[in-house]
Amino acid sequence: MPREITGVRKIKVGTIGYGGAFNMGRHHLNDLLKNPGFQACAVCDVDPERVKIATTDFPGIETYTDVDTMLRKSDVELLVIILPHNLHAPVAVQCLQAGRHCVVEKPFALTVEECDAMIAAAKKKKVMVSTFHNRHWDSNILTILKHLPKIGRPFRWESFHGGYSQPKDWWRSDKKVSGGVIFDWGAHFCEWMLQVMDAEMQEISGFQVKEVWKNSNEDELQAVVRFKGNAVGSHVASDIALAPRDMIQILGTKGAIVATHRSVDVYTRDKAGATVRTSVAMEPARNSDYYANVHDHLHKGKPLVITPEWSRRVIQVLDYAGRSASKGQALKPKYA
Ligand SMILES: NC(=O)c1ccc[n+]([C@@H]2O[C@H](COP(=O)([O-])OP(=O)(O)OC[C@H]3O[C@@H](n4cnc5c(N)ncnc54)[C@H](O)[C@@H]3O)[C@@H](O)[C@H]2O)c1
Repeated sequence: MPREITGVRKIKVGTIGYGGAFNMGRHHLNDLLKNPGFQACAVCDVDPERVKIATTDFPGIETYTDVDTMLRKSDVELLVIILPHNLHAPVAVQCLQAGRHCVVEKPFALTVEECDAMIAAAKKKKVMVSTFHNRHWDSNILTILKHLPKIGRPFRWESFHGGYSQPKDWWRSDKKVSGGVIFDWGAHFCEWMLQVMDAEMQEISGFQVKEVWKNSNEDELQAVVRFKGNAVGSHVASDIALAPRDMIQILGTKGAIVATHRSVDVYTRDKAGATVRTSVAMEPARNSDYYANVHDHLHKGKPLVITPEWSRRVIQVLDYAGRSASKGQALKPKYA
């Protein structure tokens, strides 16, 4: 349902990447168009078949098969970059330098240095850069944050994503393109970790296994963050985990939380010291808040929720975990 505000100038939006794996290009444009001040303008994909599909989805939309031509010919103002992970930063820098606002799909980039380059380019041209952290507003994390005060000070976050299976033969399994096993879903889990463990990062470690599958991603990578104030966060991304594990477990000084995508259980103690488990009602997801905020930022100057500096903290966890695992030692973060 479009939000009702009349008389707003429409910002011309487009996507770079209109892939078929999850139809994310269509998803982004439809989500953007729920807001009155956006207008679908252009789609660019190197695959001519994909841009043909875009013209069926959005009749009359401009189409391009290379970014240079799009930036030269189109007056599109906001570009959503929905590409394989290794292309996020180079294409975003190119668009930012051409004076266009950018929303970059997660993960923002593969390295902290790439994040620095995007932030510098956006500042220089006075344009916006943000990351599509739509799961910032997922039902489970909103529910966790609502009930977090009940468990005292959270001192341990543990999350897990994966199982035991041969990775599919696609770009997500190629470390040079994907960044590694932790960069896909790990971008969401590590953002949730930082939403809950709201403290400075003091040290990042990584632990990896690479001996089972033939693709170039790690079979398993664990990122461990030491936070100021005696707290620790860990995320495991694994293709070799045969035993079941909790998806999210948070320990606090007075209780604990165990969560999946669809459930949140809060553990507390009653007056007699017995453990009480409460399956709490789930908060509704508010994923469309992402583009509503980008809209209000660009049209009304409201503060951006997903700032590039926030997204850089997520990438720092993923990037430094990999570097630490290769070096075999903990690393001090550049950005606390
Ligand atoms: N936030 C979410 O919930 C969510 C869900 C799915 C995917 N994603 C992210 O979206 C991004 C893309 O994933 P996908 O599943 O759509 O991939 P995909 O493989 O389906 O699509 C990628 C598209 O990029 C095109 N492409 C490649 N190089 C290009 C270039 N130089 N210029 C223009 N087009 C180019 C390809 O032709 C392809 O159509 C990734 O960052 C992924 O992590 C996010």
